[in-house]
Amino acid sequence: MKVLGIETSCDECSAAVVEDGHDILSNVIATQIELHKPYQGVVPELASRLHTEWIEQVVAAAVKQAGLVMTDLDAVAFTNRPGLLGSLLVGTNYGKALAATLGVPFIGIDHIRGHLYASQIENPLEYPYLGILVSGGHTVISRVESYDKVDVLGTTIDDAIGEAFDKVAKFYDLGYPGGVVIDRLSKQGDPLAFNFPGPSMDRKEHPYDMSYSGLKTAVINQKDRFLVPGKTDSKENIAASFQRQAVGILMKRVRIALKDTGLTRVSAGGGVAANSLLRSELKELEKEGYTVTFPSLKLCTDNGAMIAGLAYRYLSDGYHDALDVSASARVTAFKKF
Ligand code: KG4
Ligand code: ZN
Repeated sequence: MKVLGIETSCDECSAAVVEDGHDILSNVIATQIELHKPYQGVVPELASRLHTEWIEQVVAAAVKQAGLVMTDLDAVAFTNRPGLLGSLLVGTNYGKALAATLGVPFIGIDHIRGHLYASQIENPLEYPYLGILVSGGHTVISRVESYDKVDVLGTTIDDAIGEAFDKVAKFYDLGYPGGVVIDRLSKQGDPLAFNFPGPSMDRKEHPYDMSYSGLKTAVINQKDRFLVPGKTDSKENIAASFQRQAVGILMKRVRIALKDTGLTRVSAGGGVAANSLLRSELKELEKEGYTVTFPSLKLCTDNGAMIAGLAYRYLSDGYHDALDVSASARVTAFKKF
């Protein structure tokens, strides 16, 4: 089954063809990064306008690169929740219209589940596992029971981890997108130059919840308070010290969750799963006997392949949508217990 996956939830206009849920025949990602750069953040109105202009070419390129023609497609999938509504509507409406024209089934896919599924395409991991979703919009530690059943254990109570990376980078004018630049700068910095604080939270009630706004505020507004005597104040040192703490906050909860749930498998997804420090810290868990997977870098940030891959599972189990399916900006993927 050849599934076309369309992803337009934020600032990447992507389309991919994945065969039988695991063979990525193409994965075209047209990024709007350069066009949002002057604003140092995604401008929703601009994003949806660009998706409208690009979607047809991006889909055509994905089908061509897969060595196919449109009529070879067996199904169409599109991200229809959550995200920027105007952007989601472009992929949703285009996907529905294309599927209707071709006379093939179609399905709207949840972006969050897509990220959590991405690593399954390349490195299938047995369920259940601890699923970590770290992106610009979400920070979630979950128990993943199946491709469709995700129980949230903990989330951020304020900023998402990627948002913290982006805001710190924006404040210090380090470059855009922030996470990638901080990751790169950190390699030349001293992670112990600043002793930025982690959140003080009631661990008993919410042992897996996280907070990033305190760290962000400390780095942006009170940096000098946290400079370790004898260390240098430089952008490399700010980046490395911030990154150490941002990853540390997450890893602390991941470790507690692993211990409490007894899960032995871990998988991460989302844009921040491309972070080199987070990847190496997760890899460290293997020394303690855990099985760890994460997607290749191209499948961490937003992409159509994760949408097509996950859609294959639903379609194989007989699920598909009807023409009244629409887009939703809100999170509907999972309830928190
Ligand atoms: O998954 P994604 O492409 O979009 C959302 O669904 O949000 O994630 C984008 C986020 C941005 O905040 C970006 O700064 C961050 O992922 N990011 C990184 C890295 N690469 C992307 N953060 C830290 N280190 C990276 N290497
Ligand atoms: Zn995403």
